[in-house]
Amino acid sequence: MASAAVDRPFGLLAELTYGCPLHCPYCSNPLDLAAYADELTTAEWLRVLAEARALGVLQLHLSGGEPLLRRDLTEIVRSASELGLYTNLITSALGLTPRRAGQLRAAGLDHVQISVQADEPALSDRLAGTPSFARKLAAARLVKELGWPLTLNVVLHRHNVDRVGRVLALAEELGADRIELAHTQYYGWALRNRAGLLPSRAQLESAEAVVRAARARLEGRMEVIYVLPDYHGRYPKPCMGGWGRRQLTVIPNGEVLPCPTAHTLPLPRASVREHSLAWIWECSPVFQRFRGTDWMPDPCRSCPRREVDFGGCRCQAFALTGDAARTDPVCHLSPDHGIVAAAVQAADEAAQSPAAVLTPRPNPSRRARPQSSG
Ligand code: SF4
Ligand code: FES
Repeated sequence: MASAAVDRPFGLLAELTYGCPLHCPYCSNPLDLAAYADELTTAEWLRVLAEARALGVLQLHLSGGEPLLRRDLTEIVRSASELGLYTNLITSALGLTPRRAGQLRAAGLDHVQISVQADEPALSDRLAGTPSFARKLAAARLVKELGWPLTLNVVLHRHNVDRVGRVLALAEELGADRIELAHTQYYGWALRNRAGLLPSRAQLESAEAVVRAARARLEGRMEVIYVLPDYHGRYPKPCMGGWGRRQLTVIPNGEVLPCPTAHTLPLPRASVREHSLAWIWECSPVFQRFRGTDWMPDPCRSCPRREVDFGGCRCQAFALTGDAARTDPVCHLSPDHGIVAAAVQAADEAAQSPAAVLTPRPNPSRRARPQSSG
């Protein structure tokens, strides 16, 4: 694909706030959370949604942080619904009370995705950094009672991957329509905590066998999505389906990014406070920089997979090499692959020793802005 060809975006990830009652050590939010405290107002979000729909967006994912911390969430959902957007709430479920859930249902919310850290309270609450397991289960039951489709999302790592069978049983018990078992992506807080999170190869092999068997057993009843761990693959994934190709992310302060972690890259900023979403998508330097294949170095430039994985993840390349334009070091053909191989080797060796101490994500202060009550 030449860099001139710009498709219409399919999905918008709206990160409404980086505020969150949880403290997950694998959070992909920025390390400098305080820099993003000046959140968009309700009116600014409603304008963004209208512009997104006009640009062709069909799916809206409302995320954070914890989107339920926004008092105007119901108003945002109602507006999205009226525009014809399919709305998905991605939540820790803390704050999803019966009253709030009823308001969101009436506003037209289509789907709820709840994160769970493990299958049992002690580990789940330890990973979340706050008592939350019981409230998550209550919220999951409420979602089903209200007739919403329910997805459970479980981020996998060294501390819970051995319990994947029990996690699947919990999802079944809750009547989840779908479970996403997603291995940790090592950006942000997760990269900082990588030594304590990366599982060993032996752990992965056992988990994969459990997931394969569950998939066969649950076919037609519950969809089981298993997102393979980047570090253990031969090739990288086509991150975001390719840079600036299908998705855009608007972060709490109004900056627009091709992926939720692109704020880590040394690229010019583009904000909905200064430009239209259409200009940002089509013309802004941040979206143009890695679109298509023209920017690629070797080995990607001459590789037959260059339009399959688009050279992998730019944020990962930057985090591991300091240069976002290099081949993703996850790829076994990358000249930097040794960085990833060494981390995997260290995880195998660490399997015999006590886990490294994990740094919890802090809870940032948010700047008060006028919001409607939803
Ligand atoms: Fe993908 Fe580049 Fe590796 Fe080829 S060399 S498989 S295009 S990351
Ligand atoms: Fe940013 Fe992959 S997370 S390109």
